[in-house]
Amino acid sequence: MVVVESIAGLSRSHGCGELTANEVGQEVTIMGWVHRRRDHGGLIFIDLRDRSGLIQVVCDPESGSTFKKAEEVRNEYVLAVSGKVRLRPEGTANPKLSTGSIEIIVHELRILNKAKTPPFYIEDDIDVDEALRLRHRYLDLRRPEMQHILYLRYRTTKAIRDFLDKHGFWEMETPMLTRSTPEGARDFLVPSRLRPGEFFALPQSPQLFKQILMVAGTERYYQIVRCFRDEDLRADRQPEFTQLDMEMSFVQREDVLSLVEEMMAYIFQEVLGKKISLPIQRLTYKEAMERYGTDKPDIRFGMEITDVSEVVANSGFKVFANAVAEGGVVRGICVPGCGNFSRREIDELTKLAAVYGAKGLAWMAINEDGIRSPIAKFFTSEELDSLVNQLGGKSGDLLLFVADKEEVAATALGVLRLEMGKRLKLYDPEEFAFTWVTDFPLLEYSPEEKRYVAVHHPFTMPMEEDWELLDKEPQKVRALAYDLVLNGVELGGGSIRIHRRDIQEKMFDLLGFSPESARSKFGFLLEAFEYGTPPHGGIAFGIDRMIMLMSGRETIRDCIPFPKTQSGTCLMTEAPSKVAAEQLQELHLRTIRKEPNINTNGKS
Ligand code: AMO
Ligand code: AMP
Repeated sequence: MVVVESIAGLSRSHGCGELTANEVGQEVTIMGWVHRRRDHGGLIFIDLRDRSGLIQVVCDPESGSTFKKAEEVRNEYVLAVSGKVRLRPEGTANPKLSTGSIEIIVHELRILNKAKTPPFYIEDDIDVDEALRLRHRYLDLRRPEMQHILYLRYRTTKAIRDFLDKHGFWEMETPMLTRSTPEGARDFLVPSRLRPGEFFALPQSPQLFKQILMVAGTERYYQIVRCFRDEDLRADRQPEFTQLDMEMSFVQREDVLSLVEEMMAYIFQEVLGKKISLPIQRLTYKEAMERYGTDKPDIRFGMEITDVSEVVANSGFKVFANAVAEGGVVRGICVPGCGNFSRREIDELTKLAAVYGAKGLAWMAINEDGIRSPIAKFFTSEELDSLVNQLGGKSGDLLLFVADKEEVAATALGVLRLEMGKRLKLYDPEEFAFTWVTDFPLLEYSPEEKRYVAVHHPFTMPMEEDWELLDKEPQKVRALAYDLVLNGVELGGGSIRIHRRDIQEKMFDLLGFSPESARSKFGFLLEAFEYGTPPHGGIAFGIDRMIMLMSGRETIRDCIPFPKTQSGTCLMTEAPSKVAAEQLQELHLRTIRKEPNINTNGKS
């Protein structure tokens, strides 16, 4: 029978992973979890683990009752061990472990707690269903790679706070129970008990509050803040996620961008020891779409998209000529070294392009002895030469073309570019390639809503040179908005804000809000704007995404201690869950669908 003992009288002297050869000869006390126990010709070896690392502990039979206890311990038992640090005997050092040259010879061992056999190994690179990991997240987080991420996340937010403190920012909190903010996603609602039938919304971001803090004269605000958006989840989207949210008064776009660049360089240097060379390159939205087919380009590799509409406009290939005649474009990419692709491989790429709306994928393989392509026969040799030259094709390369409306051609080729870049390993996965994307359109037309909607949000300032287009061609107006993109992921976005009431009203008008509906939704902001609003602007970053990229993970779920699943649930607490009928009653709520387990009307 395992007897659980008290910690009384013991005091931890070191972390398991902190011990080095310098402590040889010292008496130490360590505490942690049993990572592994091995019985070896009379000796028992225990690897003891805490968040600082692992160390080997040795019990010999001469230690009497201690040895007996050591025989009883199992994986994940919690132990306290006192003993002397010694060098491991010749030939038994483990160079893979930071404490691999030493071990502790035990004098006293206490079992502080027992543990059931865990459902998976507490070690890196386990091949376990994510659902099981999330259900037992406390065990999952014990694994060294997860502890590393938690620590990285802490150091990142600390570096952010240190940097912003030095630059005069105040950390300020804004309400979690608020009115809905117009960030474009669905709100999570919280019913009011005191005001039956009324609801708070959890903030999609603190956007309006941070602007009002600028009206309030606080000048430089930041907050590391939870935001809530009820939208379809993906690898880089969670229903609750964390933003670094910032706002500054008396600034222009350049001021915001250069401060952010300095901050990113500081964070990456402090936390990862990586130098980010400044200034960060900039692409306008238009350039990003033309060259990379996306507004979040991965610029770690080339394979840029080229427009060949002019070359093919009068060609004999009707698919291309017609696309251009109808106002579309023909664009292509040159995939290096893939000129030997089979029909099957090309069909696969065609299917991928079709997902993004491409009606087909034309191809030309450049071989030593000419071009292999089902469509080569439709072009003159000058046209073929010119296509190859414009795309920079060499012998052995594969040219891919999409003819379509501009957005479709751009998006489909952008996806093919990413896919081929990944398959051909055209980039170094350790590299961090930042780019700004600027000059976004202010508005886009929503066919569903039959009105313009804000691309960023309704408080974004239009570029001054485009003001005159606001009435004539609003879709052509560019915004003073910017996104920071890292390795093809949108890390953050922000803008210079509208601080004048007349422009803000104009914007609401373009968005189809009547003065009354604007006032009912944003009256508090408009009112605040009448009392002397400084020019201001800001930005917000997804902290979870930042940690995902810094730690080289594929999903932000790995970077959040207690994330939700793809379907928006918490497997550990089993939230969301049903609530008692009394709770609903107090909130003046009744569920419509008959819930078998809930008695909502007081009768059974
Ligand atoms: P935006 O909506 O672009 O801007 O959000 C800023 C950044 O937050 C991150 N992000 C998310 N991360 C995880 N899960 C999500 N569901 C999610 N949604 C967004 C992204 C994104 O770039 N108020 C404005 C900012 C401003 O104008 O200052 C805003 O929220 O990394
Ligand atoms: P078709 O004339 O439809 O047989 O098409 C001939 C080739 O052109 C096939 O390889 C198609 O995949 C390709 N193709 C068809 N439509 C397009 C398009 N819109 N863009 C690029 N290639 C296309």
